Amino acid sequence: MKTEWWKKASVYQIYPRSFMDSNNDGYGDIQGIISKLDYLKDLGVDILWISPMYASPNCDNGYDISDYYNLQKIFGTLEDFDALVEKAHKLGLKIMIDLVFNHTSDKHKWFIESKKSKNNKYSDYYIWSKKTNDWVSCFSGSAWTYNEERDESYLHLFSSGQPDLNWSNPSVRLEAENICRFWAEKGVDGFRMDVISYIGKRDDLVKAKGRSFDAYTNHQKQTHEYLYELNEKVFSPFNMVTVGETPNVDVETAIQYTKEDNKELNMVFQFELAECSNDGEPKWFGRKPELSDFKDIMIKWQKGLETEGWNSLYWENHDQPRSISKFGNDSDEYHDVSVKMLAILQYMMKGTIFIYQGQELGMTNTVFNSLDDFDDIESINAYQDLLNRGLNKEAAFNALTRVSRDNGRTPFQWNSGENAGFTSGIPWLKVNPNYIKYNVEDETKDSNSVLNFYKKLLKFRKNDEVILFGKFKNIDCPNPLFIYEREKDGVVYRIIVNFSNREIYRAKEEGEVLLSNYESYGNFLKPYEALVIKK
Ligand code: GLC
Repeated sequence: MKTEWWKKASVYQIYPRSFMDSNNDGYGDIQGIISKLDYLKDLGVDILWISPMYASPNCDNGYDISDYYNLQKIFGTLEDFDALVEKAHKLGLKIMIDLVFNHTSDKHKWFIESKKSKNNKYSDYYIWSKKTNDWVSCFSGSAWTYNEERDESYLHLFSSGQPDLNWSNPSVRLEAENICRFWAEKGVDGFRMDVISYIGKRDDLVKAKGRSFDAYTNHQKQTHEYLYELNEKVFSPFNMVTVGETPNVDVETAIQYTKEDNKELNMVFQFELAECSNDGEPKWFGRKPELSDFKDIMIKWQKGLETEGWNSLYWENHDQPRSISKFGNDSDEYHDVSVKMLAILQYMMKGTIFIYQGQELGMTNTVFNSLDDFDDIESINAYQDLLNRGLNKEAAFNALTRVSRDNGRTPFQWNSGENAGFTSGIPWLKVNPNYIKYNVEDETKDSNSVLNFYKKLLKFRKNDEVILFGKFKNIDCPNPLFIYEREKDGVVYRIIVNFSNREIYRAKEEGEVLLSNYESYGNFLKPYEALVIKK
């Protein structure tokens, strides 16, 4: 079996609005990314996944595309993009772009035409219906919006500015194929496919009962067929690496998407870890996760995709709060050790690793002083929703503060100067005040910093066959310890993690310490201690 290059790769996600602003308009841009390619190369990542930069009215910060063939002005021009691809390739970095195919913007010309009448070229590009059902959209409110011009309602699983495309229409599928080909020909190396598991929908969906749309819209057999079609026409011929965002996916369905013979996707993002402490409620009501909430989930996915499919390993992205604040301990005392512990815990597992910008600095959740500090449509809509559910203003505000997507979207922290070195204009979202402590410039100088630890980890992982391809074995132990082994050709690594701020007795194990977040190792595991030991 050949080993695909992306199995050894690490992916770094850039949220372009917040990465680096080259022209001081307060928004990050492509030239900003170009100016930091050396930093990314030096960090040791291989693939840069860049969140959408296409033309967009930004009701969902670019995940509402109004033109798939052009970029929005704040980010730059297509020439800038070409320069980015060229310069990245020269450094040996690959580029993965984000494709949003479940929906477009309501300002896309297809939708503008589609809503005009029932018999033009674009009439059938979206999901229109006289009758509607009780579905609630992901961003609060009904998933249907009535349009007077057409005297029908259209389906939107997200905001009303994001109408869902009708993939059962072959013309829509052809458009998608052409878009993929356009970008593949520009030299991009991969696609991250936004909520791709929703593209295939049941014909009888208006008959659905209840508020949830999943049974009629998620992981339908058509979705697999559409992905196969795209794979045959573009992904395989262009040798693309693909990762699909697939909410509520289980192991079996993940295998269906990612099994080599099925020729659909290379990897999917599963949500079980991210949602492990929500207890089935919306994320605003989630608890702080404990190890017991997710240990079994991690083990299940490691074992589940051991021989078929391939895991994507992530803690963070632009939709999640910062992992150190959610899963770890962001107090001054434990910040660094607990960030490093999280890195060892997940990134010594088998799969392709995904790092979200700033994670390598230990960026934390931010401080919100008032509702005006929020930008994200999901958070703003949810606030009203939470009040309607009976929460008082303070409780609703606190819920947003804890898990709002804006936590992950604050500007990248380059240095301790004005606006963290992100811009000398007014940043579109406030900089996290702790940039004074956590930033590239200072962390580069400190040999013990989180940034230098990430570099070490990435280097260690890169050519280590045991970590890349070894078998996974869980070692039974009581919480708050998590111990597992990786084994290849008789070489065994044991990963030992203390997921707590307490010292825990555990007899010192024999072997060579290959990686650790403390300088010494003994019979007591220190708070958040994590080790990789070669047995
Ligand atoms: C995905 C994106 C998220 C976006 C949503 C709708 O979940 O990651 O940012 O809001 O899809 O496109």
